[in-house]
This record gives sequence, structure tokens and C-alpha cells, in this order.
Amino acid sequence: MKQNINPNVAGKGKSPTLRTNELSAAMEAEGKEIFRFGFGESPFPVPEEMEKALRRNAHQKSYLPVQGLPELREEVARFTGSREGLSISGDQVMIGPGSKELMFLLQLCLETEVLIPTPCWVSYVPHGVILGRSTRLINTTFEESWLLSGERLASELGGETPRLLIINYPGNPQGTTYSQKDLKALAEVARENNLIVMSDEIYGELHHDGAHQSLARYYPEGTIISSGLSKWCGAGGWRLGTFIFPKELSWLRETICSVASETYSTVSAPIQYAAISAYRGGEAIESYLSTSRRILKAVGNWATDRLNEIGLAVRRPEGAFYLFLDFSSIASSIRTRGIETSTSLCEKLLEETGVVLLSGEAFSRPQEELTARLAYVTFDGAEALTAAGDSVGDSFLRTYCPKLIEGVERLSSWVEANAI
Ligand SMILES: Cc1ncc(COP(=O)(O)O)c(C=O)c1O
Repeated sequence: MKQNINPNVAGKGKSPTLRTNELSAAMEAEGKEIFRFGFGESPFPVPEEMEKALRRNAHQKSYLPVQGLPELREEVARFTGSREGLSISGDQVMIGPGSKELMFLLQLCLETEVLIPTPCWVSYVPHGVILGRSTRLINTTFEESWLLSGERLASELGGETPRLLIINYPGNPQGTTYSQKDLKALAEVARENNLIVMSDEIYGELHHDGAHQSLARYYPEGTIISSGLSKWCGAGGWRLGTFIFPKELSWLRETICSVASETYSTVSAPIQYAAISAYRGGEAIESYLSTSRRILKAVGNWATDRLNEIGLAVRRPEGAFYLFLDFSSIASSIRTRGIETSTSLCEKLLEETGVVLLSGEAFSRPQEELTARLAYVTFDGAEALTAAGDSVGDSFLRTYCPKLIEGVERLSSWVEANAI
């Protein structure tokens, strides 16, 4: 039979993540030690009250409204509204099976050009490709902390083309975030140009100082806040994402809901009921969050210092659990060894040290740029949460994150050996 596959999804081959996973699994099968810095999942367990709430709600068996359980939507609105100083109603909230699906539906429902600063999360660009959207990448630099400035955004605009801008902060893969001044500048340009902004704030609660601010504070009429349980509650597998739409974009929310009603219908009922306890918050959740942040900050800072010390260009992370490494300082020497792309860099590094990084190419950076992401989550989060005191110092890191330290040391030795 003829294979009539949609050309937008045909012949994609394996993603860099899958290739790296396969290579590292093969090496592990040969008995080699692997340092898994490639995959970025929260190391922390789901908060206990959420687990209990899920058990209590196992009997919930009916389909829920497509837009999401009303009580949950109210809690999400209250939670985000109080953190951001915004007035948000439950009606503006949509619950989806992970924010990834909501983002896909957003691109599906809009007929606009899509602007994406890079490095960017791995799925935004494939969504556009699958849907045949016109996507424009804006490559940011290390000097810009891998973030989009208002000025840079303005220089990319013009004309009457309707546009969707996608930004993500604290960012995956760069770990940096926008200051209040940056957000105000972006808001001004977005307003002047009537942009719809999908503001991916899934790591907002994991701002290391608990100081996340949404663009919606400064551009409420055009910002869709995207978030969910995956990162701040360590519940990626629960598959619950949230979009908060401005009242001005209720037409878009309704369109996305109508497509959702014809595709996934609604998010699993027990998960939605259990999620209420996360958004209701309280002391236990706040303490879980502040300890998580303290640990991530200490680990991220330690790794940054170590990698800067050996000459890699790495920005100090302000949130999430990633570092974006720029190997330019050793580019000329490693190119003589045939390492010409970020993918070959990661493969060589894996073969020679057992350290798994994800290549810059996966984050839509130019192939020949020698960059890669390191996810610093290779430690037992449950143990670390219990052990962490008010300050998380070097001895804590050596006791609870030994594998992470060893992996970073191996990476450092490799860089030093290849610097000549
Ligand atoms: C930046 C970013 N956005 C969105 C997602 C998707 O999250 P969800 O689990 O809500 O689909 C991820 C997950 O890795 C992410 O890193």
C-alpha cells in the first residue's frame, strides 16, 4: 500500500534526544558509567498532600468540562492572580493534558507568523513544522543572557502581519529569566505591534529566589500565561497544563476549547481534582517549593562556577534546572578533532566521558554552533528535600549530589584536556 504520509511529519528521523538516549543505553549495557545530564525532569517527588488528594479522588469517573473542572480553574486563577497582582477569573483558565498539547492547539488555531527567540524549548518549532506554520527564529546571544530584548524584538517586526511571539522564562535550556525592566520593554513593543504572546512560565515557581514575574503584569491584554503541574510539583507524568487567557482573547480560548472537545475531550478527572490541592497551596506546599528552590540554586551555582572556572561560557541560572554551555573557548582545538557540530560534540563527549548533554541543535541553534544543555537534576530529590536545611552548602552537595559532581568534574577534565 502506498504510504501517504503528510509531508509535514514524514521523514523526520530520530530527534537528538532519542539518539543520545539510545547511545547512552548501549554504553550502559556495556557496563560504562553514564552521567545523565540530558533529560530534564524535576528530581523532586510530588508533594504528599497531592498524592493523598489523588488517592481520595480515584473514584471520580465522569467526563469533566472541556475547559477544565470549574473548582480547579478558580484555584488556578486565584493562585496566579495573587502571585502576579492581577485580577483573573476561573473563566479565563483552560486546563489541558500538559501545556505542550495546549501550545500545539494554540498554533493550530491561529493563522499567524510565529516568532521564537532561540535557544528555545524543543517542541515549539516542531509544532509549527507539523502544522505548516511560518516560523521565524530570533537567535539571541550569550551576551544577551540568551534572552530577547525589546529592542531586538522591535527590529524583527513591521508591517501588518499578525504574529504570535513565544517566550519562556525562566528558560529551558538557558536557566536565565527576564527582569522587570526587560518585561516592560517587551510589553511596550508587543503592545505597539498587537502581538499575541504565549508566555511559557512553566518554571515560574522554580525561580531560584521565588521572584518570578509574568509578562502579563505589563501586557495583560495580549499575554497567554502557560504553566502546569509538571515542574513545580514534580508531576510531569500527571499531564496537567494550564493556559490563562486575557479576557480580550476569549475568542481564542473558545476556539481552542472547541478543537479540544473533538480531540482529547478533557483531562483525567482524578488528576484535576487532586490538582486543586496544589493550587490551594498552604504551608506544606510553600515549604516544599522554597526548599526545592534552595537546592536547585545551590546546585546550579556550583556547576556554573566550576564550568566558568575551566573557561566555558555559562550564564548563572536564575530558575529551573538547566545550564546552556557554550564551548566557543575550545572550538578551534576540538574542530581539529572533527567535532564540527553540537551533535557531534555531544556524541564525542558521551563516548569519551559518559556525560550526556543535549546538543544546542535540539534547541534550534545553528548546527555548527558548539553549544549544549546540561540538566542538573541527577540527584535523589526526595532525599535532598528531607536533608536540606536553611542553607545548602558544599558539604550538602558532596553528600547528596555525588553523581552530579563527578559528572561535572569529568566534563571539566575533558574540556581542559581538549583546550590545547
Ligand atoms: C519550557 C517548557 N515548556 C513546556 C513544557 C511542557 O510541559 P508539560 O508537561 O506541561 O506538557 C516543558 C517540558 O519539558 C518545558 O520544558
